Amino acid sequence: MEIFSEMRKSIRELWLLLPIANLVGPTACPVALLVATMAFVYLKARRLQSNTPSSKENSAPRANRMSNSNKNRPPGSWTPSHFTYPPISSYPSEVGNIKPIPYRPFRWGEYHVTMGIRSMPWDEWIELDNQYEAYHRIRAHRIRTRGEGVIRVMPDNTGVVQSGAAAAVELVHELVEYLSRRYPTTFSVTRHSNTTDSTFGWEGAQPIKTITVVPLNVTYDVPLSVEEPGAAVRALEVAALIIQEDLALMVEGLDGKYYFQAGAICVPGFWRMQDKIGLPLDQIHITGDVPRYKEKLEMSMERFFQRMTVDKPVVRNNYFFQVIEPKSETNSIDTNVSIREDKEVDPEELAWSESTNGPEDDFIHGHRKPSRPTPGVADLRLRSERQTLRRLPRSGAIVFTIRTYLTPMEDLGREPGVPGRLASALRGWGRDIGIYKGKERGNWWDALLGYLDACCDEQLAQGVTAEGAGKEHYPL
Ligand SMILES: *[C@@H]1O[C@H](CO)[C@@H](O)[C@H](O)[C@H]1NC(C)=O
Ligand SMILES: *[C@@H]1O[C@H](CO)[C@@H](O)[C@H](O)[C@H]1NC(C)=O
Ligand SMILES: *[C@@H]1O[C@H](CO)[C@@H](O)[C@H](O)[C@H]1NC(C)=O
Repeated sequence: MEIFSEMRKSIRELWLLLPIANLVGPTACPVALLVATMAFVYLKARRLQSNTPSSKENSAPRANRMSNSNKNRPPGSWTPSHFTYPPISSYPSEVGNIKPIPYRPFRWGEYHVTMGIRSMPWDEWIELDNQYEAYHRIRAHRIRTRGEGVIRVMPDNTGVVQSGAAAAVELVHELVEYLSRRYPTTFSVTRHSNTTDSTFGWEGAQPIKTITVVPLNVTYDVPLSVEEPGAAVRALEVAALIIQEDLALMVEGLDGKYYFQAGAICVPGFWRMQDKIGLPLDQIHITGDVPRYKEKLEMSMERFFQRMTVDKPVVRNNYFFQVIEPKSETNSIDTNVSIREDKEVDPEELAWSESTNGPEDDFIHGHRKPSRPTPGVADLRLRSERQTLRRLPRSGAIVFTIRTYLTPMEDLGREPGVPGRLASALRGWGRDIGIYKGKERGNWWDALLGYLDACCDEQLAQGVTAEGAGKEHYPL
């Protein structure tokens, strides 16, 4: 118990630093978030175990507990398990009519370790909205121009960890089954005739053969056999193109560590998959300069991953800021065709935050581009992320989804209560964290706070909001 509470304390300390590392921008390692996420999940999961009323557990997925063979499995082994999926209810409107969910995951006052890992309702695994087409265009462009830089499956690493291929093929089937239920008018699917012995279909159905994105009129073949050459990469391409989320697959190695063995990381903004793929979590975090990871966190991370069950997915949110190129510069014609295309397809720098990090191809982790003069508020974006985590029943791999929402700061300034709450949260970081997050570099900190305060004063004067409002709606 002593050891555990010590660990909990150090996890807290770490948490204090991590989200800030992301706010800083250029040094951000979102995979470090993954560890932070896990740390938190681990604590929360323990709390849930003791607190969750059993009635709630029963109404949750009709799930099987981790079968004994998996519970006591040797590291790196997994017995495919049967999972009875909970019913997925269809979303009550068309994707084109769904507004992006306005996650505003910051709280009033001092920065606390209350980053809100919640258990994930199965209906909400994947969130689509009216940005679908724009994201699809950006993601397709990234796959076309960056290939292995954004979609990659690692082979077997003999004696260490298996390939991510089986997990990749399983994942695309999980997605198409889910999407066809959740957004039934957006996706239409065809199934194999019943000659396959695949178990990918939910509820005993034959596996899905093709999926059509109705509003885009595009149809993708869903790879069925991992034996077919290229099937796993193709599976991840299809997965990346039918949703707005990025995807990372973590596979347990013979040493019990979790390796980043496959990914579709199309719009990471601040990190590159090529720098992290194939690494175990500890290396990802050590290369991400996560303080004290080795001494303090490694054991709890591994344990959380090892114990995660198929029936208990989780979700969390976080946020940071990015600067984009002022519109006048964006409009200037770049003579380099590929750069020009990137900017045309993705003017908000969703895929890669070049204005903060410099060119993606020259990126070296931790090296920041000299900051340019004070950006205007018009060029500031809130970059908020929603992350989910679940274990796949057949391969046992853990899927990490990352959905990014970009919101102009000027839109945030008009939302009732939001500027005041964000300003309070920023001030709540305290001096050390303020220094760490780089108040001195660039002048956006002052510009942002000044703007938020002005918006807040105006809202208070107009009675749009009350002092301290918005405490109860985390993460919105
Ligand atoms: C599978 O085959 C059986 C017998 O031929 C048939 O009755 C059933 O409708 C088929 N199911 C599907 C999904 O094609
Ligand atoms: C959808 O695409 C197909 C070709 O892939 C084309 O034949 C068909 O006319 C298109 N339908 C619509 C409604 O655009
Ligand atoms: C255009 O920019 C890309 C990315 O920076 C670079 O790889 C390429 O060589 C450039 N092309 C030309 C013709 O300069």
